[in-house]
Amino acid sequence: MSAVLRDERLLLPMTVKQLDAVLAIELQAYPFPWTRGNFIDSLAAGYPAQVLHGSHGELLGYFIAMEGVDELHLLNITVAPAAQGQGHARFMLDELCTLGRSRGAHQIWLEVRGSNLRARSIYERYGFRHIGLRRGYYPASREEYPNGREDAIVMSLSLEAARGVD
Ligand SMILES: CC(C)(COP(=O)(O)OP(=O)(O)OC[C@H]1O[C@@H](n2cnc3c(N)ncnc32)[C@H](O)[C@@H]1OP(=O)(O)O)[C@@H](O)C(=O)NCCC(=O)NCCS
Repeated sequence: MSAVLRDERLLLPMTVKQLDAVLAIELQAYPFPWTRGNFIDSLAAGYPAQVLHGSHGELLGYFIAMEGVDELHLLNITVAPAAQGQGHARFMLDELCTLGRSRGAHQIWLEVRGSNLRARSIYERYGFRHIGLRRGYYPASREEYPNGREDAIVMSLSLEAARGVD
């Protein structure tokens, strides 16, 4: 996968060498973060994975997807907390769509926590549609969810229709 340069940001393929920096963001961004092993397994499997750098080389975020027959499944998209709200997720979603189209995918789908209203709203504004529910998909705090599990909303984006909604 080649580097993608637009404005002052640079998307590069994720490598094992970057995992310390990736994990530092992952631990800040999620109450139940991916482990180093999750990232290593994804890279070993050859899943499309890119890191987003800012103009000073700082790590702003990253995404990992899994390829299906005619679809991409977005497994992880994260922006460093200090860099959120500046369009970086949208930038990575644009690249994910470009990647999907270049590989013949017709749709992108993802799961998001029901309680993650910010992410859900960003996906909806981008054009993703709520298509289903996976009950108890995520580990969760027992204080908020007595069974320690939270449902996932399944969302999908048609690449034929996608152009990024303002
Ligand atoms: C969800 C997440 C990935 C969104 O990343 P983000 O970079 O903050 O998202 P964006 O900046 O692209 O979009 C957020 C907002 O910024 C706005 N925006 C876009 N370009 C902008 C710019 N140049 N300057 C300022 N704001 C901008 C967008 O319109 C959007 O507005 P909204 O909040 O009213 O919808 C990020 O909050 C995150 O990593 N959260 C923790 C992990 C997580 O929940 N991941 C998703 C799991 S499914």
